Amino acid sequence: MASRKPRTAEEDAILAKAAKYLPGASTGNVYYKAEEALIIKEARGSKVFDYSGNEYIDYLLGSGPMLIGHAHPEVVAAVSEVISLGSTYFSTNSAAVDLAEEIVSAVPCADMVRFVSSGSEATYFALKVARAYRKRDKIVKFEGGYHGTNDYALMSVTPTSLKDFPQATADSAGIPKVLEGEVLVCPYNDLETTTAIIEKHHDEIGGVIVEPCQRIIPPMPGFLEGLREITSHYQIPLIFDEVVTGFRWSYGGAQEYYGVTPDLATFGKAVGGGYPLAAIAGREEIMRVFDPASKEEGSFVPGVGTLSGNPIAATAGLATLRVLKREGSIEKIWATGNRLKSEFTRLLKEKEIPGVVVGEAPCFDVYFGVEEVNDYRDSLKANDEMMGRFNHHMLESGVLKGGQKFYISMAHSAEDVDKTIEAMDYALDQAKD
Ligand SMILES: Cc1ncc(COP(=O)(O)O)c(C=O)c1O
Repeated sequence: MASRKPRTAEEDAILAKAAKYLPGASTGNVYYKAEEALIIKEARGSKVFDYSGNEYIDYLLGSGPMLIGHAHPEVVAAVSEVISLGSTYFSTNSAAVDLAEEIVSAVPCADMVRFVSSGSEATYFALKVARAYRKRDKIVKFEGGYHGTNDYALMSVTPTSLKDFPQATADSAGIPKVLEGEVLVCPYNDLETTTAIIEKHHDEIGGVIVEPCQRIIPPMPGFLEGLREITSHYQIPLIFDEVVTGFRWSYGGAQEYYGVTPDLATFGKAVGGGYPLAAIAGREEIMRVFDPASKEEGSFVPGVGTLSGNPIAATAGLATLRVLKREGSIEKIWATGNRLKSEFTRLLKEKEIPGVVVGEAPCFDVYFGVEEVNDYRDSLKANDEMMGRFNHHMLESGVLKGGQKFYISMAHSAEDVDKTIEAMDYALDQAKD
């Protein structure tokens, strides 16, 4: 099955230059083992192509943004039309106004929108806005939850030595030690422990942030509802980080899909159509802290960013949402994901490989060696080495994916799915203990 062609001198030369000029030979997102490394030359539809003539079925999707497929003709046309009108103005532009209107019409919690350039910036501002509005400093987040790289967010995402809840561990060097004391870490899907922590600290908490589906782990019945109830009770802003789930779980995001409405939500990835754009959306009363008029109440949050709401990115986002909004678009993503999930589960069973396929259809993967994964600590019990081998053999068979995630797009065809199932069959045999 393994079909990958050997690297050409051209790709080797780019990799050698990357090793010289980029720390870790990478732009920072993916660090390949030397024998796996590749440089992507172009991407179209469901495929990416490297400099050695290899074609890969792409389930990395640029880490999620390319939900309708790479270089979608409608996005390319929309961007081509505006690109000669200038790249950025700093002043408000009409594409950003239209995109804000579309987000408000789609997303249950959204009355108003502020644009930024990345998901990390969106969560950084959402946390700041919550603290400014509530006039309290501490943040509640969940162990294993990822909200980007800002200092409050990069806490207990992948801790190796586990502390008692709610103690936080910074995941990065360079984060001021004092911030660990400002973040209360709770166990995802454990409403009882989370409620007890919020009850004990409610008067110090500025906001609670959660990925409604944490990485690929779905919420257990009642978890998001309970979180909504306890935060409403103490009037603590609840933030859904919908950078992944926005416009993907359903057009109104995970909040629409799970039927729980937060106070604020962050969006990124799909909303920018593959261009650098992200957003904070939420209730008007809270979003008003971005308005200089709120200076009088002492709650003003300056939300300035040179490229915030960039007109080309906003145009690409609007074109992407137009495609996603059409009947059948998101349904197709779910149908493709569900077929892959069930075939994956069938293969595990047939081959008697212990493991479980976890996630919702647009975003899922396997955990080897375990029967159930409901939180970060469960995920630590999985067989990571086998996962590494599986991913290696998928890549060698022409399937590109993230370390612990298949992202499904609208562009994946029935033929792509058949080929992927063949690759899974082969990679599982090779990866077996
Ligand atoms: C849930 C979630 N929030 C925030 C971010 C950060 O987004 P960005 O990489 O655009 O800064 C990510 C990125 O993967 C994410 O998955």
